[in-house]
Amino acid sequence: MRELKVNLKDHSYKIYIENGILNNLSKYIKEVYNNDKIFIITDDIVEKLYLNKVINSLKNDYVVDYVVIPHGEASKTLEKYAYICEELLKKEIRRNNLIIALGGGVIGDLSGFVASSLFRGIPYVGIPTSLLAQMDSSIGGKTGIDFYGRKNILGAFKQPSMVLIDPETIKSLDNREFNNGMGELIKHGAIGNKELLDSLYSKPEIDENIIYESLKVKRHVVEIDEFDLNERMTLNFGHTFGHAIELKYGYKHGEAVAIGMLMAIKMGIDLGVTDPSCYKPILDILKLYNLPTEEYNYKDYLKDVLYDKKNIAGTVRFIFLTKLGECVIYKMTEKEIGKLI
Ligand SMILES: NC(=O)c1ccc[n+]([C@@H]2O[C@H](COP(=O)([O-])OP(=O)(O)OC[C@H]3O[C@@H](n4cnc5c(N)ncnc54)[C@H](O)[C@@H]3O)[C@@H](O)[C@H]2O)c1
Ligand SMILES: [Zn+2]
Repeated sequence: MRELKVNLKDHSYKIYIENGILNNLSKYIKEVYNNDKIFIITDDIVEKLYLNKVINSLKNDYVVDYVVIPHGEASKTLEKYAYICEELLKKEIRRNNLIIALGGGVIGDLSGFVASSLFRGIPYVGIPTSLLAQMDSSIGGKTGIDFYGRKNILGAFKQPSMVLIDPETIKSLDNREFNNGMGELIKHGAIGNKELLDSLYSKPEIDENIIYESLKVKRHVVEIDEFDLNERMTLNFGHTFGHAIELKYGYKHGEAVAIGMLMAIKMGIDLGVTDPSCYKPILDILKLYNLPTEEYNYKDYLKDVLYDKKNIAGTVRFIFLTKLGECVIYKMTEKEIGKLI
């Protein structure tokens, strides 16, 4: 079992990472919740795999009810948000009850947003089941839904009361979903944890320790920048170019981040910011995990980047590695970028 605490000014919380924790949930939830009712929000795939297990491990201590929505990004909508709120109200949820978000990042973002707004905020516990959600999206308090054709455009910062991670659930993910998480996990190693990166070369099973090491990188930036104003931006390493190719070529997000990291490394090397020795180890590790490593010339995508949301008053902030395990936020003016195109 590994334990981690996210220290924030008003709402610190614990993360427990333990194989089989799904069979033993009450023990931990009692630390943060002693009322009678719990409402689980999950999707139809996770429902079939884990809902009974979760209910069984809570039912001796709590009255448990649940709401199920269809899986996938298409559920991160205002309609599904309204549906969940309606179902919870029909089931007579009260403001001192607890919500559990059981699922991947979609369920985490959506349930967190419900928890942030229903009764002006009620507590929730995250039980992330996808690799991406376990090593990344379940902590940090960013919640929300897609709207007006834009991702995560309606949302709120709402920290969970606790996060409970069972690495055994990763085993039921299909290959592409697993890889999707690996792209971001490798990114965490690249920007903030060289030891984590090194440990991946032997292709170990993704276990409690690896998830712990990955979350440590995210925790660090969340603690110093809870509301995503500055340092947290380093998590966008590989995303600036990743976003530019993700939709265009139909990559999954983590796959696009893999390619985006390689593009950012090339650009960082050209600018003299990134140590040239960074490229090969990242390329090798991406290949090891069957992530795409096609070469795209970053110069062809700088125009797209200029129109991206990171363009704040004529400057674009890039995240470059300096060496493996370390990165910087690097500001460039439109003019400077123009010279590279
Ligand atoms: N809040 C944040 O900080 C943050 C960070 C990164 C990503 N996100 C968001 O997270 C979402 C992506 O997360 P995701 O990749 O987990 O997507 P997801 O929730 O859609 O899960 C991916 C698929 O895996 C299934 N699944 C989940 N756990 C499973 C398991 N144990 N076994 C088998 N199948 C399982 C789901 O049903 C779904 O079909 C995006 O909406 C993204 O915007 C949020
Ligand atoms: Zn990402």
